Amino acid sequence: MKWVTNALSLGLVATSVLAAPLDNRQDDGGLDLYQLQVTSKNKQIDGRYLALNGSDLGLYDGDDTGPIKVYQTDSKKEGCKELHTYPIGIVDHSLGLVGPPALLTFVDMVNPDGADPGNGAVAMWDTFRVEDGKVTNDAEGQWLAFPDVKKSWKVKWSDGSSPTIDDYMPVEVAYVSAGQGRYVGK
Ligand SMILES: *[C@@H]1O[C@H](CO)[C@@H](O)[C@H](O)[C@H]1NC(C)=O
Repeated sequence: MKWVTNALSLGLVATSVLAAPLDNRQDDGGLDLYQLQVTSKNKQIDGRYLALNGSDLGLYDGDDTGPIKVYQTDSKKEGCKELHTYPIGIVDHSLGLVGPPALLTFVDMVNPDGADPGNGAVAMWDTFRVEDGKVTNDAEGQWLAFPDVKKSWKVKWSDGSSPTIDDYMPVEVAYVSAGQGRYVGK
């Protein structure tokens, strides 16, 4: 009986391994997809992939839908890129940086063009730099990760002027190839 159980679970593993390449082939259409991986000296967060919980990008142990996939398009701003989430839906989802200018939260924005976060906050979504394997913002500053509930971390862009908060970690955000997707309706 024990042998049967083992064989069955092996069978299940084999099936799910096979499913991934088939899905990719179906979706092949020349759109390069990426996942965003955090690198840090902190072993708790190094190598983990950015995911969404609600509209906040971060590192989560649960409640999220797995690593996000993005594709890049040219921004109207010289040398900058926009990062849109994949799969492409009816409304555009773009990664954005929102909040008080000193410490911007990394979020998923719906139809970001013309978005006004109000209260003196800014919303940036067309100023990403995607170079040398890394994603940064086209402004002075750096990525910081802040511990959150349930061993989660939120990722923010700091221009260095925010009040000192002790428990953040400087991190880098790397982009890692995640296969090909396709444009829909474009
Ligand atoms: C996800 O967001 C919800 C609502 O803000 C929160 O209650 C929950 O703790 C978050 N989960 C994680 C893993 O951070």
